[in-house]
Amino acid sequence: MKSIFFRYPSLYDIGIRFLYFDGLKILKDIIGPKKSVFEPACGFGRMKRYLYPDCNYSGIDLNEEFIRYGQKRNLDIQLGNILDSSRYRSVDTVLLCDILHHLKYKDILELLSIAVRFAKEKIVIIEPTFVKIASKNNWLSRFVGKIMATLDADGLNEIEHWMSRKEYDSLFQTLKDSNHIERMNIRNYRNHDFVEMYINGYAQKA
Ligand SMILES: C[S@@+](CC[C@H](N)C(=O)[O-])C[C@H]1O[C@@H](n2cnc3c(N)ncnc32)[C@H](O)[C@@H]1O
Repeated sequence: MKSIFFRYPSLYDIGIRFLYFDGLKILKDIIGPKKSVFEPACGFGRMKRYLYPDCNYSGIDLNEEFIRYGQKRNLDIQLGNILDSSRYRSVDTVLLCDILHHLKYKDILELLSIAVRFAKEKIVIIEPTFVKIASKNNWLSRFVGKIMATLDADGLNEIEHWMSRKEYDSLFQTLKDSNHIERMNIRNYRNHDFVEMYINGYAQKA
């Protein structure tokens, strides 16, 4: 069932600001000025506010309330499935924020195999790493995991598993290898991983 946060975009906005505090302020440095950025699973497009104003931001999502809310604020976001490559745009950076942990493993692999075709410079992945508290095999961890999965239920996917530090590291390495990415940079800032996967050819210049 879709959690209250995914039914009311303004509530999601307040909740997510509380979770991140100022944790997204490094995104400007990571993406840079004058870049085109496409975000599959863009929600209502909140990431636009963390980019340089001269960046060109667009995105797709399947949550109609979120898309309507963002469009009313003049954001270039549309209804679309992240696994449908015909909805993608070719851009400097494909941004994947807070989406991987919603998806099944095979869908994560597919998502990245699509993203890599549309990113000219890099793919940037942002994932919350405080969720590792729900990855342990004890009753408290399982209980916390259930609460988190209920609050984070997007109405499209069911979160069955929260990844540990080791699982995130292994996932990022698999995504790098399976997409023949030469260079990857991972930084952890305010309990979030910021992963940059440089598209070959651009990797040497960066
Ligand atoms: C946690 S939210 C993150 C939204 C946004 N990236 C942000 O950081 O504010 C996850 C989003 O993924 C979207 N989503 C999940 N599966 C999707 C799919 N197959 N196609 C399009 N959007 C999807 C949900 O509707 C939800 O808005």
